[in-house]
Amino acid sequence: MKRNVIRRDEMLTAQLKLGGQPIELAQYASTGLLAIAVGPRGNGKTNAGLLMAEQLAAQGWVSVLIDPESELEALYGAAVPDPEALRASLDARATRIVVVSAKDASEFVPYGRVILEAAEEHRKPVFVVIDEGQLFSTSSRAKTGDAGEAADIINQFAGRGRKRALDLFITALRYTGTLQRLLFANKNLTLIGCQEDPTAWSALAPQFKGSQIGYSDLNALSTGEFFCFSRGGVEKIRMPMAKALKAVAPKAKIIHRALPSTFNQWTRAMSEIPAERLEALTDPVVSLLGAVAGLTSQPMVTGISALQDELEARQ
Ligand SMILES: Nc1ncnc2c1ncn2[C@@H]1O[C@H](COP(=O)(O)OP(=O)(O)OP(=O)(O)O)[C@@H](O)[C@H]1O
Ligand SMILES: [Mg+2]
Repeated sequence: MKRNVIRRDEMLTAQLKLGGQPIELAQYASTGLLAIAVGPRGNGKTNAGLLMAEQLAAQGWVSVLIDPESELEALYGAAVPDPEALRASLDARATRIVVVSAKDASEFVPYGRVILEAAEEHRKPVFVVIDEGQLFSTSSRAKTGDAGEAADIINQFAGRGRKRALDLFITALRYTGTLQRLLFANKNLTLIGCQEDPTAWSALAPQFKGSQIGYSDLNALSTGEFFCFSRGGVEKIRMPMAKALKAVAPKAKIIHRALPSTFNQWTRAMSEIPAERLEALTDPVVSLLGAVAGLTSQPMVTGISALQDELEARQ
C-alpha cells in the first residue's frame, strides 16, 4: 500500500509542561518522542509518565498506559480486558487514556503487537507509557521467548515509531543494565532523578558532560525533581503532579539534603566553624543540646569523640 509521508501536525502546536520551560513538541516533529525517566523507587517516575500522558491525551494523542503493578486502574478506570478490546479502543480513539494491565513480558506481548498493528494502520498519535521498563525490556543478551519478543516490540516502538506517530515513555530504576542500549541511544527527552549510589555516576557522567552538574547535585534531588534533558537543553525541574494522582496521593514534601555528603564537603563545613565555637561546646552544653534533640547515647558518644578529635587536630 502506498502511504503519504507522515506529518506530525499534532506536534506542531503541542507542548509539555513538566515544571520547567514548556517543551515545544514542534522540536520533535521529525523524530517523535522517546522519553526516559530514571530514578529510584518512589522518585516520581510513574507520576512523570502520567503527567505526560494526561497532557498529550488533551492534545490529540491516545495515551496507552502499560501498568505492571495494577496501580493505574484506580486512577484511569478499568484496564482493557484483552488485546482485542485494546485494538477496538485504538480504532475508535474515543477513550483518550487507556490502561493495559500486564505484569510481565508474556502478558505484554499480545498488547504490544496490537499497538504496533494499530499504529501501522492508522498513523494517528499514540503515546505509550511503559512503567517499570526493566520488566519488559532487559538488556540481558540471553533473551528468549516472550522476553525477547517484548524487547523486540519495544525496540520497534522506539525505532519505527516516528513514521507511525507512536511516541514512547519508559521508566527504569537505573541508567544502565536495565534497558536495551537502543533505547538509550535514541532517547530525546530524558528525566534523571535522585541518585543515591555514587557508582551509578560513572554511567551518567557522559550525559552531564559540559553541564556543570555533578553527582552531588543529582544526589540532592528530592521526590518529583529531575534534571530534564530536552532539545532545549538541560534544566532542573520540579514536576507537577498528574491530575489523577494528585486526587488520591499525598504530595511528597520536598526534602533537600542539608548534611554534607562527601568527606571533602564535611571537612570544609567543619573548617568553617571557628575554634572558639567548638570550645564553647563543653560537656554540660553538649548534654543539654543532646537532651533537647532527643539523642540516644550512641550518637552522643560518637559526636563527643568527633568533637575531641577536631579540637585536638587544631592544637
Ligand atoms: N512531582 C511530585 N510532586 C510531589 N509529590 C510527588 C511527585 N511525584 C510523586 N510524588 C509522590 O511520590 C509518590 C511516588 O511517586 P511515583 O509512584 O510516581 O514514584 P515512582 O518513581 O514511580 O516509584 P516506584 O519506582 O516505586 O514505582 C507519589 O505517590 C506521590 O505521593
Ligand atoms: Mg512507579
